[in-house]
Amino acid sequence: MASPIVITKKIDPFNNTIKVNGDKSLSIRWALLASQANGISKAYNLLKSLDVVSTIECLKKLGVKVKWNKKYCEIIGCGLNNYKNKKKIILNAGNSGTLGRLILGLLIHHRSKVKIIGDASLSKRDFSRVIVPLKKFGARFKYKSNYKLPIEIKGVSNAKPISYHETKGSAQCKSAIMLAALNTKGETIIKARKSRNHTEILFKHLKIPISIKKNKNYDLIKISGQKQFSGFNYNIPSDISSSAFFIVLTLLSKKSKLIIKNVNINPSRIGLINILKKMGVNVYFKNKKSYMGEKVADILIKSSNKIKSINCPTNYNSQAIDEFLLIFLVAARAKGVSYFKDISELNQKESPRLKLGSKILNMMGIKTILTNSSIKIYGNPNLTINHKIELKNYLKDHRIFMMSMIAALSFGGYWKLYDPDSIKTSFPSFLNLLKKLRKNAK
Ligand code: S3P
Repeated sequence: MASPIVITKKIDPFNNTIKVNGDKSLSIRWALLASQANGISKAYNLLKSLDVVSTIECLKKLGVKVKWNKKYCEIIGCGLNNYKNKKKIILNAGNSGTLGRLILGLLIHHRSKVKIIGDASLSKRDFSRVIVPLKKFGARFKYKSNYKLPIEIKGVSNAKPISYHETKGSAQCKSAIMLAALNTKGETIIKARKSRNHTEILFKHLKIPISIKKNKNYDLIKISGQKQFSGFNYNIPSDISSSAFFIVLTLLSKKSKLIIKNVNINPSRIGLINILKKMGVNVYFKNKKSYMGEKVADILIKSSNKIKSINCPTNYNSQAIDEFLLIFLVAARAKGVSYFKDISELNQKESPRLKLGSKILNMMGIKTILTNSSIKIYGNPNLTINHKIELKNYLKDHRIFMMSMIAALSFGGYWKLYDPDSIKTSFPSFLNLLKKLRKNAK
């Protein structure tokens, strides 16, 4: 295990241009869909993090051929419902909820039994949210009474399309059902509370029959299944959820400026930017372009010395679901009390992030009022930390670790942070990029 990182002072002013790793949601989706395509698919800038490596390893066990080249990853797809393995296998989804849930959608027709396992964190997370609807297609499951991993799935040859109402604003639930629909004859109908829409965009791009009617609070998605599609290449843009750590570090640091190149700014992912704008922070998109139905831009961010508190509109929640820990840090610096509500889903992540986020703010000297689904944060624009903060037990969650690093470099104090290896889950270059900023700091 890597030794803990000790931070004893704020970062000095910096002015840099950086590129962060590829988008995790797009990397996992590319691999899963490429495995169902006919022929070769290539992904450039695929995120080489543990969640994506777990995805590739699971596909290999299902008989999919994968080659890593220096510049790209190549998958030779099997075609729809045609994974090659014949015997019962065990797939390890590692730490990844996205992989664990989405792959079940692809397995509802699979002829042999598959057991899904995961690490200690994934084994605590809820799978009823996908098991219940996937059972309606006809798939058979074995699981413990609490719907947690390990679970076993056995597909059926005559799955039936379903009507499904997704109420949590979870793209993982929506996408698991979309992937099941892709493999099922007939029309599946999904009424989904708004959430990231990468799967819909990829389906459209691959000419998989899909119609989407957008309403104010939900989308009505109809998919006609069992249409074969060909292999496809993808140049994966950078991840806004990884960029977020550097966006917040820059705005909380003095006299600093940062450009982050070629980031995916899909409107269903930019809740952080929308929330920051409401808090009076200026963030700019430069060189905007479209790529494969996604929006991509460079992000420009500068230090911000006047941050306003926010009563956060709930329609930003799913757009910012992975960024709330960082938004809490911005609220800690804001003038006034910020309020975030209807965010109980945060406690369903790799760790109970709403609870732990609040705990870390308290350790920093920030008052919070916490419920199961909301938090009030009493901001202090003059907060500087002079005491010691040691975080030992929570940092296996990659985003909690990285949020703590940003807090340490922005607010000062003496921080000892365990489990730096957790960054390998989603953002392997995080520490190197920080090193680059610290080296070039004035
Ligand atoms: C993801 C969806 C989100 C997010 C996760 C990635 C995805 O989860 O937290 O990191 O790629 O679909 P939920 O959809 O369950 O909120």
